[in-house]
Order: sequence, then structure tokens, then C-alpha cells
Amino acid sequence: MKTGIGLGALALALAACSSSANPEPVEQIIVREIGAEAAPAADADPADAGEDLVAAGRSAFAVCTGCHSVDADAPSAAGPNLFDVVGREAGARDDFAYSDALQSSGIVWAEGDLDAFLAAPMDVVPGTTMVSGAISAPEQRAAIIAYLSSLGDES
Ligand code: HEC
Repeated sequence: MKTGIGLGALALALAACSSSANPEPVEQIIVREIGAEAAPAADADPADAGEDLVAAGRSAFAVCTGCHSVDADAPSAAGPNLFDVVGREAGARDDFAYSDALQSSGIVWAEGDLDAFLAAPMDVVPGTTMVSGAISAPEQRAAIIAYLSSLGDES
């Protein structure tokens, strides 16, 4: 059985070889992208960024127009007219039959209230009749709110 012993010895030799091999220490280099979400360049005009957001909000508002008008003189429809809604008391338009829940909510629509309401209307105002139209993406809500905020300025 010479062959068997020979192979066994070879296997042992190989095992010894690999176990005694001293692996080079592995250096871990963690690459972080610095400034991936950096603030806009110092020379960027913040007004431009604001206009972009308003433009994005105008497009995103398309999902609201089925129920809401934003024209200053337009009547309320399936939902109340939202012209100049920022800073207005919730449920304040005379030409819309609001829910008691919204009307007695005590909210004065600041941007933070709008953000929370648009994320989950029925959580913020349990009993609201705005049963659809929630926007889950925060950046989309921010754009819509910037757009709504800009409306009063144009008059
Ligand atoms: C399916 C129709 C519908 C859609 C779509 C809808 N809403 Fe509404 N919205 C309503 C109704 C109805 C109310 C009144 C709720 C109440 O009285 O409880 C309302 C109320 C509001 C109010 C409070 C207004 C006030 O005068 O107090 C805001 C702000 C608002 N909606 C924003 C939006 C925005 C922004 C969108 C789109 C992202 C949207 N809604 C989509 C039906 C809708």
C-alpha cells in the first residue's frame, strides 16, 4: 500500500502548508463619499433652488387637482380651494362643507401641519373626509407645500 501512504503524506504536507501559511493582514479601507448630500455650492442662488422646488410641487400637485383648485377665484369642489391655504385656519372657507373633525381641529396650516396632514390625513385629523390623496414621499410633500406657499405671493 505504498501508494496510499504516499498520497496520505502528500495530503498532510498540503494541509500543513496551507495551515502554516501566514496570511497577509487584510487592510480594510472604508470609502465614504464625503459631501454626497452636500449643501448646494456656495455660489448657487438659493432662489433658484426655491423655484425648482415650486416647479416640482406644481407638477406633484397634479394628484390633488381632481379635488382641489388653487385658483384664487375658483370655487371649492370635491375638496376646498387651497389658494392661500398656508397660514389659514383649517376648515375656514365658507364655500365648502368641511368635516366637523377638520373644523374643530384648531390647526392653523403651517408647513409642518401640512406635511403631517399630507403624509397621513386621517392620523392627523381623525374623521377627516379627505380619505385619499396622501403623499408618502417626504420630498414630494415638501415640493407641494413650497408650491402652495408660493401661491399667495403671486397675487
Ligand atoms: C379625493 C379628493 C381629494 C384629494 C385627491 C385630495 N384632497 Fe385634500 N381635501 C379633500 C377634502 C374632502 C378635504 C376636506 C376635509 C375635511 O373637511 O375633513 C380636503 C382638505 C384638504 C386640506 C385642508 C384645507 C382647509 O381649508 O383646511 C388641505 C391642505 C388639503 N386637502 C391638501 C391636499 C393636497 C395637497 C392634496 C394632493 C396631494 C390633496 N389634498 C388631495 C379631498 C381631497
